[in-house]
Amino acid sequence: MKYHQWSKSFETGNAVIDAQHRELIDGVGDMADKMKDGHGADALAACKAFRKLFETHFRDEEEILEEAKFPRVKAHRESHADNLEQLQKVFDGCGEKCLNATSSPCIEELSHLVYEHLLRGDLDFKSHLQTKKLASD
Ligand SMILES: [Fe+2]
Ligand SMILES: [Fe+2]
Repeated sequence: MKYHQWSKSFETGNAVIDAQHRELIDGVGDMADKMKDGHGADALAACKAFRKLFETHFRDEEEILEEAKFPRVKAHRESHADNLEQLQKVFDGCGEKCLNATSSPCIEELSHLVYEHLLRGDLDFKSHLQTKKLASD
């Protein structure tokens, strides 16, 4: 099952960022699938991989924005730090419990985090990257 579908409205036009955003969306679906099928240990491993992916993505995205001299890079960095804090809260609240669950509210929360990041956070820099020729239209 695909937990969520990629939508054109998520596109920033930057190939690196968009590829990582797709991975984040797929990561949520992957976790949900493994949990639903009763593979708790795999779900937990997928959860940890998802977290790494998020951290790597933030780092890479910040680097791209620095390079592009995005004027609101500082605020954007702060929004990433907030997201990581929220991510930590979700992890604190679930973790080992996922081993025996077939569904968990944490999946919903992680999915919400991804959406917040894609729609509220990242569309802010789309036009800036386009003017710098770092994103397609
Ligand atoms: Fe992003
Ligand atoms: Fe971002």
